[in-house]
Amino acid sequence: MSYELKSARYLAAEVLRQALKPGATAVDATMGNGHDTELLCSLVGESGRVYAFDVQEEAVRATERRLAEAGLGSRAALFCRSHARMAETVPVPADAVVFNLGWLPGGDHGITTRTETTLSAVEQALALLKPGGVLVLCAYPGHPEGTRELEALTEMFSALPPREFNVLRQTFINAGPDAPVCFVVQKQ
Ligand SMILES: C[S@@+](CC[C@H](N)C(=O)[O-])C[C@H]1O[C@@H](n2cnc3c(N)ncnc32)[C@H](O)[C@@H]1O
Repeated sequence: MSYELKSARYLAAEVLRQALKPGATAVDATMGNGHDTELLCSLVGESGRVYAFDVQEEAVRATERRLAEAGLGSRAALFCRSHARMAETVPVPADAVVFNLGWLPGGDHGITTRTETTLSAVEQALALLKPGGVLVLCAYPGHPEGTRELEALTEMFSALPPREFNVLRQTFINAGPDAPVCFVVQKQ
């Protein structure tokens, strides 16, 4: 096969690669093991800045280690706090904000992102974006809270005024109801 359709996560990374240039500001709303934070740090370059959030110390430590090993630690500010506090924490407009919902891979499945805080954080992220900036979000409806999140986000994103935002939704529609979904929202 010369061309293969790619997953939600692949699209998320591809959009970030296009959207972020050296000197940019980016936010990782769900740090986890730091894969996205590392990608953001590599894309914003030495003159850029990344703000990253997670509610678990374990995630912050894993991300700290990952960035240190990659020599990228000075580009990021890591916060052990909810992304629902994004507006009060991030002091400047952002070129990109990324959410990867759910629980910490290899961690406690009971500590997962929750619909109410996710909606609040997404609202704050949309306000924080510069014109032309992007919000990239992967949602996983394969568990009850993930299904609630996806339904609520679909409703919220569908209602965004098209003069202010363009919203894309990508999923494999024949992969069953649990297939991950990637949303990309661009501020006009
Ligand atoms: C799927 S993981 C993220 C994976 C990560 N993006 C990576 O690249 O490794 C989701 C993370 O969201 C975190 N989380 C849950 N509720 C949160 C909240 N209110 N604010 C910030 N992070 C939260 C979890 O602790 C978990 O580490």
